[in-house]
Amino acid sequence: MRYLTFALAKGRLAKQTLGLLEQVGITCEEMKDPETRKLLFVNEDLKVKFFLSKASDVPTYVEYGAADLGVVGRDTILEEGRNLYEVLDLGLGKCRMCVCGPKSAREKLNGNEIIRVATKYPNIAKEYFYNQKHQTVEIIKLNGSVELAPIVGLSDVIVDIVETGTTLRENGLEVLTEICDLSARIVVNQVSLKMEHERIRKLINDLNELMNQQ
Ligand code: PRP
Repeated sequence: MRYLTFALAKGRLAKQTLGLLEQVGITCEEMKDPETRKLLFVNEDLKVKFFLSKASDVPTYVEYGAADLGVVGRDTILEEGRNLYEVLDLGLGKCRMCVCGPKSAREKLNGNEIIRVATKYPNIAKEYFYNQKHQTVEIIKLNGSVELAPIVGLSDVIVDIVETGTTLRENGLEVLTEICDLSARIVVNQVSLKMEHERIRKLINDLNELMNQQ
């Protein structure tokens, strides 16, 4: 039997995913050592391997087949636009992708002047403004703490993830438009899904059953 390799987005999501996988019998003791600096973990008995990568790299590993499966947020899947199959919504890390800004920016969203949009997700912002809303905007790519941009005058609005809304509230910003719902998904390499169809289908069924019980 060949190895089935999982790419997990490191951080809280990886820990939660490993918890779910453990409940359907897929474990990896090696990974539980908090001191380890290893990057690739193997369970020889089950013939599975796991590795942790930066979230935005998970779709790349899966598209090229370096990982058969990946677990990553829908925000990353949409932003990276890779060729892969999305097979299951794990329901973890639920949040929303939104256009946000100060209340005063609301009318600018409906006007004709070209507004500035700061975001960590330029492809999602482009898809929304150009293809759905048909509004010409200037998109400015940032790498984090995006809420700063409208406060210091870099942009009119932001496209960002809203979970509890606390960051917005504490910075005098609000949701102006919702773009889409987000949560963690399992993605699968297109060839792996054919070659390892039985194993992957069983895994997805088991996870589905588990989630329906909870
Ligand atoms: C995310 C997101 C928002 C915040 C939303 O940032 O970009 O800033 O969480 O959460 P809330 O609605 O519960 O306040 P993250 O912590 O991932 O860091 P970042 O600023 O580096 O993107």
